[in-house]
Amino acid sequence: MYPLKKGITTTQAHVGLPKGTYEEEHGRKGFFGKSAHLYHANPPTAWIRFEGKLRPHCLDCNKLEPTDRTDPRGRPVTFLGNDDIRVSVSRRSEPMPYYYRNADGDELYFVHRGHGTIETDFGPLTFEKGDYIVIPRAVTYRIIPESKDNFFLIMESGTEYEQPEKGLIGQHALYDPGVIVTPEPHPNLDDRREWEVRIKVEDDFSSVFYPFNPMDVVGWKGDLTVWKINMRDIRPIMSHRGHLPPSAHSTFVTQGAIVCSFVPRPLEEDPEALKVPFFHRNTDYDEFIFYHDGSFFSRDNIKPGMVTLHPRGIHHGPHPKALASQGTKTRTDEYAVMLDGLNPMHVFPAGEEVEWNDYWKSWREP
Ligand SMILES: [Fe+2]
Repeated sequence: MYPLKKGITTTQAHVGLPKGTYEEEHGRKGFFGKSAHLYHANPPTAWIRFEGKLRPHCLDCNKLEPTDRTDPRGRPVTFLGNDDIRVSVSRRSEPMPYYYRNADGDELYFVHRGHGTIETDFGPLTFEKGDYIVIPRAVTYRIIPESKDNFFLIMESGTEYEQPEKGLIGQHALYDPGVIVTPEPHPNLDDRREWEVRIKVEDDFSSVFYPFNPMDVVGWKGDLTVWKINMRDIRPIMSHRGHLPPSAHSTFVTQGAIVCSFVPRPLEEDPEALKVPFFHRNTDYDEFIFYHDGSFFSRDNIKPGMVTLHPRGIHHGPHPKALASQGTKTRTDEYAVMLDGLNPMHVFPAGEEVEWNDYWKSWREP
């Protein structure tokens, strides 16, 4: 059965919107559950005032000052998250003088800027801009940047990062698993210095010391390892006749979050098809986006290194300029990492310090 239809609507979602209407998708379970399309006479983001704490957030992570930027023993700064997932920025400019092991969670590094090597139990991996590096819980590693001006987004999850189910589109869509890079063993057997391994458990740090380099694995086997893919290897799917939901761009899933990658793609070419994201009030997820590179079509005044957080219950959607210009654009040129949290995500004090407080006004007509 196709659900009910009342009043002025279109037949297919995101296609041939009734003149003068603004389509909102009101849906459950991300974009997979029951949903209704509401045809509003006004953009649902045309608010004039807020009271209470709920509002869309925008943070400029370029202004965060993690202590690891200047102190090799310093740490990333955690600016946002919940019990499932916590997001930090590291600006590490010098090699870690110790090895590190996070026993609290699995880590997903996104390299916004910088290049170098990460040594791990499984062997070293080089890293560069656009890399996603999955570091399972309790793997020992050490970051050795070669560049100085580095910027890592770290997403720490209480549950494992898995690849998404690709269902009807097949296992080679989005990215062929063949592009996954895993480390080769490369033991540092001649390094007999004293080495510290810093271990994080329940956000408390302990250290264990060895009289040799702990990267002494001469071989490994199994299906649990460090792995990476680069954003440039993501080949997005799209439809020339209908706007696909953000979930079509899923890259990793955990039990509490979904990570999607937005990369350049042609826009829908059917004249009736919507070319910008539809309005929605997230119902079952809070939506975090990190803007990596390019120009951000549906949002004004957003620059690389900035973050938006659209909490459940309040609308978001394209800015008026993007809505007005959608007929003239033929492709997107944006690279962004989206993280949808199943449970409410909060801006922590470090994030509040770099918040653009008037972001909620940005949907006003110019
Ligand atoms: Fe959204």
